Amino acid sequence: MQLRDIQGQPVAIHREDYAPPAYWIDTVDLTFDLDPAKTRVLNRMRIRRNADASNQPLRLHGDELNLARVLVDGQGASFRIEGDQLVLENLPDAFELEVFTTCQPAKNTKLMGLFVSQDTFFTQCEAEGFRRITYFLDRPDVMASYSVLMRASKDQYPVLLSNGNLVEEGDLADGRHFAKWVDPFKKPSYLFALVAGKLVAREQRVKGRSGRDHLLQVYVRAGDLDKTEHAMNSLIRSIVWDEARFGLSLDLDRFMIVATSDFNMGAMENKGLNIFNTKYVLANQATATDADYANIESVVGHEYFHNWTGDRVTCRDWFQLSLKEGLTVFRDQEFSQDLCAEASARAVKRIEDVRVLRSVQFPEDAGPMAHPVRPDSYIEISNFYTVTIYEKGAEVVRMMQTLVGREGFAAGMKLYFERHDGQAVTCDDFAQAIADANPHSDLTRLLPQFKRWYSQAGTPRLKARGTYDAAERVYTLHFDQSCPPTPGQSNKDPFVIPVNVGLIGASGRELLATQTLVVTQAGETFDFAGVDEEPVPSILRGFSAPVVLEFDYSDEQLLTLLAHDTDPFNRWEAAQRLGLRAAMAAIDAAPGAGAPVLSNDFIEAMRRVLTDTSLDAAFKELVLTLPSETYIAEQLETVDPQRVHAVREAMRARLATALHAEWQQAFEDNRDTGAYSPDPRSAGRRALAGMALVSLCLAARESGDTVWPGKTLQRFKDAGNMTDRFNALHALVSSGHALAAQALASFHAMFKDEALVIDKWFALQAGAPDRGGDVLPLVRQLMKHPDFSIKNPNRARSVIFSYCSANPGAFHRPDAAGYVFWSDRVIELDAINPQVAARLARGLDRWSKLVEPYRGAAREAIARIAARPDLSKDTLEVVTRALQ
Ligand code: PHE
Ligand code: ZN
Repeated sequence: MQLRDIQGQPVAIHREDYAPPAYWIDTVDLTFDLDPAKTRVLNRMRIRRNADASNQPLRLHGDELNLARVLVDGQGASFRIEGDQLVLENLPDAFELEVFTTCQPAKNTKLMGLFVSQDTFFTQCEAEGFRRITYFLDRPDVMASYSVLMRASKDQYPVLLSNGNLVEEGDLADGRHFAKWVDPFKKPSYLFALVAGKLVAREQRVKGRSGRDHLLQVYVRAGDLDKTEHAMNSLIRSIVWDEARFGLSLDLDRFMIVATSDFNMGAMENKGLNIFNTKYVLANQATATDADYANIESVVGHEYFHNWTGDRVTCRDWFQLSLKEGLTVFRDQEFSQDLCAEASARAVKRIEDVRVLRSVQFPEDAGPMAHPVRPDSYIEISNFYTVTIYEKGAEVVRMMQTLVGREGFAAGMKLYFERHDGQAVTCDDFAQAIADANPHSDLTRLLPQFKRWYSQAGTPRLKARGTYDAAERVYTLHFDQSCPPTPGQSNKDPFVIPVNVGLIGASGRELLATQTLVVTQAGETFDFAGVDEEPVPSILRGFSAPVVLEFDYSDEQLLTLLAHDTDPFNRWEAAQRLGLRAAMAAIDAAPGAGAPVLSNDFIEAMRRVLTDTSLDAAFKELVLTLPSETYIAEQLETVDPQRVHAVREAMRARLATALHAEWQQAFEDNRDTGAYSPDPRSAGRRALAGMALVSLCLAARESGDTVWPGKTLQRFKDAGNMTDRFNALHALVSSGHALAAQALASFHAMFKDEALVIDKWFALQAGAPDRGGDVLPLVRQLMKHPDFSIKNPNRARSVIFSYCSANPGAFHRPDAAGYVFWSDRVIELDAINPQVAARLARGLDRWSKLVEPYRGAAREAIARIAARPDLSKDTLEVVTRALQ
């Protein structure tokens, strides 16, 4: 495989070009002499020619390795280096290959391969990091048995971990020691891991359903042991859930989680040795918010669930990435929902997931990086760890479950493992197993068409209209579907769209309980008989398909749904539609026309929600949250980001002042949640209390009142947990109150040794509402703060991404200074960590929708990056696509 062509341009890899490997690697015995400056790696492999493949040389991948020696069956062998590859010819059918290399972990700022973080060694091999450790067939369809011998200074690296079981350990001369690990399962190289350093572990022994004993460990730095209980509990819940829901048990004696503060992503599912970003492990009530607790639970679940969906059955090639990621996100979403005691909490989780999908994945699907859930080509695979592969991929799995039912889906999973355990397979194999286990289902009948969800990019539009025949008592729903063009795909064929529908009467009575309609044609009609009155249709309940639903609801109909829909998702959606409608009207109105940004009807509806004692606090908080600026922007043909920002801020201010009394009541009702527990009910109450404080401080800003800011500062000081403390701080900062400075300073002093809390401190300031262009200078200041380091991904995200990617009102400046800052940071990061740089480079994906002067300035900033020589292929791919 050639990475660059003759001109030095990166070359795209195509799914259609897949060919099985020319050789198999059966066993890998690795010996590491760990040293931060220069680690020696001896790699002994048993290799055999693939009888099914044509006779080719063996081409092993490598990246930034120093090669010292190559032996074939113990003899010096002739080899050549071609680009990044080690090439051997004239090999026997089966042989032992020994490769001796060195690498420099301390200099590894890309955090791929073997790297050092806070004096501890970690690895990250997905997708193509193993080649930075040794020469290998670094592709997921080459599965081998690994044994690992690690040697290191005992004093500096007392804990030595790798995949599988510890089979031997002991002391060596010169203060060194060793450990030998053997993984009982074959695995692709991307699941290899090792860790060496000064770590401590929380341990727990548990028994699986069949009586098997497991040792669970969560490894952290010594000072963090008091923040591991929640991760351990989450792991135990994950084990129990996967047995109960899918009959999948833990297949290892030992399961380890290790936390590192330097990590490009959230976490990694290495077999038996998951490596996590500290953000998704460490929590106690003083340092972590409810959102942190919920994220930890779902990420611990996600990585654990990969043990089956990813590790036992893996991907044939990286085009199949969603095979493991879409499925595993679906599983972690279901896990979090199943942990909810109440149906309303399940709905809240669903709404939160859909919000992410629509505000991040829909824009991706409409922009220059749009790609199918199973992409056809890529230049750099790291760029395809996207919300499309993950979140849209999860929606595709969810639709399968909707079409075959929950039990049918579990049966399909069972068949999938019966067929493919121990294999590297494709998305087709998965869909086939689900279908074959449900021979009489709509999925099976429609399988080839259903699979367009894997091959066609773009978000389908589903236009619906309804007619009521009072004489016949028949309600008719007509659907038209279409899908906008995406890069490389101008025409789309119709999708299979499961549409959950119910009907509500004008007085709020449910006339028809949920039914699943399966739309398969470009245009299609469904009749409902025996409908006694003209109904309000509740369409796409639970967001049963990842589409944009258009229905010409009147405001009155939306108010009916908001008040009465039995489907909580559509109840929330009705409020979102009303809010969006108000925003669009205000954006269209001549600036300064003086029309109120929110109608009285809308405000009264929000008042009813806020005071409705039958509704959960968490649900109220979601309903009262207006559609985000990015979501609003997506609905517009051309975007003036400052106008969108100003309108949304005006709407927020109006809700804050108009509902002042209700916000006070909501705060009083929810201010005290007793002894801290991160359960959904208490977390929802804290979220609503927090939102109330934000509103009350905002209203105080309008009126000049000082009482609520004062109360908020007091709450900040007295808070018994991080959620309440941070929410109070947020209220002061986001309302721009003078007391914010003092609270920020004391917050920093309180938590100066807690890196994850300091990340929050940075992020809050870089994400604060802009007042006269003050955020960019502040961001520049923050980058000079002694606690700032661009090399630490979490810290870079907390300052740079919070400003460039999460604060549109401050970032899109008429003077283009935000874009210039962005391009400077992309370039700076690219030399350090291309993966992080390429993610930041996605920040102006939607530039072509912007109005002038933003559009021209954004394009110029992207072009400025693209013009740099020596750009990584990660960043080059992103900016090249953005300019096309
Ligand atoms: N496979 C990881 C997950 O989703 C994500 C990841 C990808 C982590 C690449 C590191 C590198 O669980
Ligand atoms: Zn994953």
